[in-house]
This record gives sequence, C-alpha cells and structure tokens, in this order.
Amino acid sequence: MAKAAPASVKKEIEELREKLRYHEYRYYVLDDPEISDAAYDRMMSRLKELEAAYPELVTPDSPTVRVGGAPREGFSTVRHARPMLSLDNAFSYDALREWDRRVRELSGQEKIGYVAEHKFDGLSISLQYEDGILSRGVTRGDGTTGEEVTPNAKAIRSIPLRVDAGILKKVKLPPDFEVRGEVMMTKKAFEALNREQERIGGKIFVNARNSAAGAVRVLDSSITAARRLDFFAYYLLVDGKVPFAKHSESLQALKQLRFRASDDWKLCAGIEAVVAYCEDWDAKREKLPYEIDGVVIKVNSVAIQNELGYTAKAPRWAIAYKYPARQETTVVNDIIVQVGRTGTLTPVAVLEPVQVGGVTVSRSTLHNMDEIERLGLQIGDTVLIERAGEVIPHVLKVVKEGKNRKPFRMPKHCPECGSTIHHVEGEVAYRCVNAACPAKRRESILHFAGRHAMNIDGLGDKIVDQLVDKGLVKDVADLYALKEDELAGLERMAEKSAQNLLEEIEASKKNSLARLIYALGIQFVGERTAQLLAEHFSSLEELAAAKEEQLEEVPEVGPKVAASIVEFFSEPANRQLIKKLRKAGVHPTAEKRVVKSQKLAGKSFVFTGSLANRSREEAGELVIQHGGKVSGSVSKKTDYVVVGTDPGSKYEKAKELGVTILTEGGFEKLLGL
Ligand code: IVH
Repeated sequence: MAKAAPASVKKEIEELREKLRYHEYRYYVLDDPEISDAAYDRMMSRLKELEAAYPELVTPDSPTVRVGGAPREGFSTVRHARPMLSLDNAFSYDALREWDRRVRELSGQEKIGYVAEHKFDGLSISLQYEDGILSRGVTRGDGTTGEEVTPNAKAIRSIPLRVDAGILKKVKLPPDFEVRGEVMMTKKAFEALNREQERIGGKIFVNARNSAAGAVRVLDSSITAARRLDFFAYYLLVDGKVPFAKHSESLQALKQLRFRASDDWKLCAGIEAVVAYCEDWDAKREKLPYEIDGVVIKVNSVAIQNELGYTAKAPRWAIAYKYPARQETTVVNDIIVQVGRTGTLTPVAVLEPVQVGGVTVSRSTLHNMDEIERLGLQIGDTVLIERAGEVIPHVLKVVKEGKNRKPFRMPKHCPECGSTIHHVEGEVAYRCVNAACPAKRRESILHFAGRHAMNIDGLGDKIVDQLVDKGLVKDVADLYALKEDELAGLERMAEKSAQNLLEEIEASKKNSLARLIYALGIQFVGERTAQLLAEHFSSLEELAAAKEEQLEEVPEVGPKVAASIVEFFSEPANRQLIKKLRKAGVHPTAEKRVVKSQKLAGKSFVFTGSLANRSREEAGELVIQHGGKVSGSVSKKTDYVVVGTDPGSKYEKAKELGVTILTEGGFEKLLGL
C-alpha cells in the first residue's frame, strides 16, 4: 500500500494546479503568457512527479490529464475523429536515452529506427479532406474537441484547398483523409507584422507562435489571410489510422500531395543518431526562417508504434526533445531612442548584459510609447526578455519593479539633429520631421540596400555612417555616383572591397521594379504590396503619376496605402530622386505578364470570401491574364463581384449597388474554364 500523502504535498499539488490553470488561461485563451515556457514546464513536471508518487491525489480536472486549452467562444466545437494528443517532453539527452530504453524494452526490439524532425513552434490543426477537397479545419483545442476554423484554414496559402485525384492515386491514398500539422508564422513575417503594428500603434505580439495562434483563432478570416501564415504538415491519417507501414512514408506522401512539409527530417538508426541530430539543429536552428523549439522523435515503424500504443495523454512511440528556452531576466539600465528612416522615434531598452541561448544581449526594442505603457515599464525594472531567432530580443513583461525606478519620457528634440519632435495627440508615433535629419538619411539608405530591397551586399551601417557624415551620399541615388577613390578613403574599406561594393551597386541597377518600389521605403508599402504595385504599373513614373483611385484598383491596396503612396510622390524631393535614379540608369520596367486573351477586357472584378478551386490571388491573376482588372473594393464601376464561402462586407455592398454577383462556377464559365 502506498503511504498516505502528507498535508504539505496536498497543499503543494493544489497550489501547482491553480497556478498552471491560470497560466494556461493566459497562454491559450488570451494568447498573452506571463511566464516563460520553461517555468511552465517546470511546474507541470513537478505536478506530474507528485501525482505519480501519490496517485490517489489525481483528480479528473488536474491540468496533467488535459492536453490543451479551452476553446474560445464564437467558434463551433468539433470532436476529433481521433484525439489530437500531446507529446511527452524530454529536457535532456539522458531523458531521451531513458525513453529509448523503455521503447526497446516494451517493444522487445534491440535497436529502433527513429524519425527525427523539427518541432515546429506554432498552433496544431487538423485538416479534413473529403473527396480530395478541404472540408474542415479544426484546432487542437483540448485534444478531444477543437474549434472549427475552416475559413481561416482556407486563408492560409500553404494549405492546399484540394488535392489532385491523379496524385492521390499515385500515392495510393483514398480521397477522404486527414492531415495534421502546425500553423506557423515565419520570423520575417512576424518581424514585418510587429513593424507594421509599431507604425500604426497596434498590439505588439510577443512571439511568432502567439501571433500565429491568434490569427487562426479570430472570427474574421481576412485577419488570418493578412498575417501570412504557413502550415507545416507532419501527420497523415485515413479513417483515424496511419495509412503506411512507416512514418517516413507519410512524410514523403505529404510532400507529394503538395503539402508543405519540412525536408529536414532524418532517419536515425538508434538514439545516439537522434542525439547527434538534436545537437546539429541546436547549432543551426538560428538560421531557419521559422522557429523550432525542439525535435520530435517518432518510432518509424507503424507496427511498432501500434504495439507501444498510448498513455492517456500522449503516444508512447514519440517524444519531444525541447531546446532550452531563450528567455532570461535582466535589468533595464536605461531607455534610449533611435530615429528610423521615416523619422519615427523608437524607444530601445539598454539592458544589463545577459546571456540568452549563447548570445550576449544588451539591447531590446520597445517598439513605441504605448508598448512601454502596456508593459508598465520604467527604467530600473527587472524584465523577462525573449530572443527568437535572429530577431532583436523583446521584453515580455516586467517581473520586478526597480527600487529607484524612473519613468521614461519621449524627448522633445531629435537626439540626432535637435529638431523639434512632432506628436499628434491620439497617435502613437513621435516623429522627427526634418527631411535632412542624418539619422533618417542613414536609415533610408540602409533600407534601400537591404537584402529584400536592392540587395547591395557590403553596404552596412559602418560604411553608410561614413558616407552620410562625409556628405558623399545625400540620397540613395547618390550611391550610383560613388567613385572608387571616394570609397577606398573610408575606414574599414580596402581597395578590393571598394571595387566589390561598386560592382554590387552597379549590379543592383538590374533589380526588378518590385524591389525598387519596396526599396524606396514608402510608408505602408511592404514587399508584398510592392510586388502587387509592380504587377499593375509598368514603371516607377507610372506609379508616381497614379491617383488614389487608380492605386486602389491594385489588389490589397486600400485608401490608407494609396494615400501614403500619393503623399510620397507629391514630395518634390522624392520626385527629384526618381529623376536622379533614372539618370543613373536605375529604371526597371515591369516584367511582361502572359496575356492569354482579351475576354475580360475593360471588366473590373472584386473577390470576396474563400474560393474552393483557387486562392483569390490566383483568380485575380486569371482575370488579368484575360485582360480584366482586379480591385480591392466594390464601387459602381465594379462589373463583377465573385463570391466564395463566408464572404465579407463586399458582398453586401455589391447587393446594395446592384453589381453582378458571380459564384466561383459562374466565374469559371465566364472564362470558359
Ligand atoms: S507529432 C501523435 N510532429 O508539438 C503525434 N508534433 O508538444 C503528435 N508539433 O501537439 C504530434 N512539431 O502541436 C508532431 N514534427 C512534429 C511537430 C509536432 C510540432 C507540436 C504538435 C504537438 C505538440 C506537442
């Protein structure tokens, strides 16, 4: 007989459960965690340990018997055909070896073949396909029932809306199947989102996982679409069973079915090969375009998987090895401000240097004044910071107020040029409006040269600082007039590097129109908008001459973006800049689009809702290929509004204005598809 539990254990268990419940609510329901994952995991491990020692104290509502979070109101809940279980965690290689020992013991095998794959850090969802067509997307929820988020799943572009019958046949899969995987946001998309939120004064997201999770669980699927989410598939089921003899075959089949699945998984003959894989990726994960928080290890043979079976919460045939969290606490010694290329002042925390995942961190962006207020942060406070990939770390929360804490105030004058700072009451941004402010000049040159813009390798901040300080470059067009001896005279610039840089600058003239538009750094014009603008206008001059109504004809360009573009090009200095660029030989024209017919010539289309057979972008592309135009908003001039499932307000507007409404079928008919 097990000995009776002492009162102190009962009390500890109660306290742990209460804390865990609270933190689960913060994490899953509010998408706003207060503590690090590692701290949460530690509490959960301790509770599991106590419950294992005193099984009579396990209750059906203990956080240990539950898999995930409570569904949010507003979605219908759906029962999973087969529970979406969690995975047990291993926090050390020894724990992995111990798990391997148990697997071998239970299966009676001497050595096990494993598949090691990335543990994607996002939100898991299940996608059901009927007759090869995506019929339902459901979040994991509590593992047994999840939220039905089909329109949102459809808004994620890496999720196929249908799978070709020919491919299904080739893969030997019936047309009804289920795919499970993780919805994620790339580091780049996450950074872009927060930069945009910074500018418009919206909510700043703490990490890519939370913003992805939030975007899947919103009632408005246009928000999901705008967040640019990705989906990585890792599990395939037919009638609740794995349809192949090996898990590796499922991963291969998923790729063939045109799901996005990582190529970085590996077959490992035994646990030591798994440990080597984990070590390898710990060093390399920083360079991945998305976040992984560990490695998932699965027994490859499905027969052995079935033999091993499941505990109440997790499969015995799989485990998650978790990398140490890249979160730390440190003190904010000061808050300084940086001036961006649009003149916006960004507050930056100067931190007591601290090691986070092997890197010394001494700065952290605070985004804007609202964020500082939201955090309740003052100079001298102790904060929890997180480093996600190569992103500058950010402050998650204040963990302890400093004894002599001091509130931060935005300066009244620009720290770079001394001009008065402008701040419109009610807006978040504080701006230096001096067009000649060297900080703005510097930032706009760095943006212009950036990897996603004109991609001028070797034009880093040390060089740009000198070019601006010496007066050699006043605007980006001046880059094209630089001479070798001017460059060679700069610090840290050898003759060879001067030559290389000039070659890079020369080569940048051949960049696409989309890159050039993005490189100009027009407010609200990100990479994607630049791409869409380049597809619509044939040159920079044409874009510069466009009126707001014409700009709004470009997909995804609304009044705010259109106004910003018009404002940019109405500025004489910017007009001058375009002339200068052209003179310097920077004059890309749009790539010619394939024109298939003029069937839709002069007709303008608006799309709303999710289409079944193609994405809205693909449908828009078809319209353009046949001579028509696509617009983002419905007006009297709109000829057709094509309506998919769950249409937005554009549908109402179309009915109100009496615009012809088409279903996807009607649209296909019109095109003769
Ligand atoms: S397999 C029964 N594979 O991690 C199989 N899960 O901590 C269960 N996850 O619930 C899932 N990457 O949301 C699997 N490559 C991967 C994964 C993965 C991330 C997530 C998934 C799971 C959670 C468990």
